[in-house]
Amino acid sequence: MQALLLCGGDGTRLRPFTYTQPKSMLPLVNKPLLYYILESFAAAAVEKVVIILGPNGQVIEDLLTTEHPYGLKYEFVYQPEPLGLAHAVQVAGDALQYGPFLMYLGDNLLAEPLRPLIARFEEEKPDALVLLREVKNPQQFGVALLEKGKVVRVEEKPKVPRSNLALVGIYLFSAAIHQAVRRIKPSWRGELEITDAIQELIDQGKTVTSHRLSGWWKDTGSVMDLLEANKYFLKKITPRHDGEVKKSEISGPLVLGKGSQLKNCLIKGPVAIGAGCKISGSVLGPYLSVGDEVEIVNSRISNAIILPRGQIKELSLATGILGERVKVVGSGSKNKDSSLFLGADAVVKF
Ligand code: DAU
Repeated sequence: MQALLLCGGDGTRLRPFTYTQPKSMLPLVNKPLLYYILESFAAAAVEKVVIILGPNGQVIEDLLTTEHPYGLKYEFVYQPEPLGLAHAVQVAGDALQYGPFLMYLGDNLLAEPLRPLIARFEEEKPDALVLLREVKNPQQFGVALLEKGKVVRVEEKPKVPRSNLALVGIYLFSAAIHQAVRRIKPSWRGELEITDAIQELIDQGKTVTSHRLSGWWKDTGSVMDLLEANKYFLKKITPRHDGEVKKSEISGPLVLGKGSQLKNCLIKGPVAIGAGCKISGSVLGPYLSVGDEVEIVNSRISNAIILPRGQIKELSLATGILGERVKVVGSGSKNKDSSLFLGADAVVKF
């Protein structure tokens, strides 16, 4: 099976973080979001991955061609503008050799393994197999209507949803999708919607089957979704201390990277700290991940993602994401339980 992974798009809902990097490069427990997806591909014996990149996607191509993670074969296709998910399928047609593929939206994370889904698709040979999940806010997703177990209608972000079954951003398609994406017209939001291409398959009498997801799934569309996903992966960490711990108390799992120092700290795991960090006089966690070479002094931080090379002093942070090289000087306990979302290179003094 080959996969089409969509890492284009502007990532507008995740600004300011997506001003400096594509959203699939944002770290969850110090690993790019994209790597969790590639790991699931490798586990499902996917061989080739065609990756859709936007104008800021060079960083992804550079990373994957240098590191070559998970032994997968990568091919990169640049989509000059995010004209829609079905447009991405159009531009990837050649790379996919107009054959069947697994399509995966680069901001979706899934607990369920992909292998059984691929096996079912290969056995039943429908023209599309879509993943569905009951949600409370179907207006924010593609929505499917089922009749006697068959998908009879799909609509993108309907104002009045016909069901509470959201389309998860993971699909399996037969070669028929390549013609369908060429027959549709842009939607009211100006995009070529994959949902409309699926509806096109249904209208042509093709078989569209579905699988109801039961496990954890996250469309990391917002900063709070990112924090939730970070929390989910932090709960799975295996403790490992490669750094130095002095006069500190640790409860719960802690990953401490090479060359990192903890002094006079109280750690409430799960907490993951990268390499080369200097942390003193601080209470950290639960649910905190800190990138490489971050300095933290006299602070209290929980439920947060701190990107590499930041400097944080006297800060009390209950929720937040701090971009690369951010410098924050708080006011100790006066700014208790603050919530901060700061893009790369921000400088803040309370
Ligand atoms: O997450 C599930 C939802 O994903 C589905 O329920 C919807 O039916 C589906 O349209 C999609 O909705 P989103 O609004 O979440 O899609 P978004 O614009 O965020 O794009 C998803 C990913 O695809 C994102 O990582 C960026 C990438 N992308 C997006 C567009 C529009 C591209 O690579 N190229 C594009 O042209």
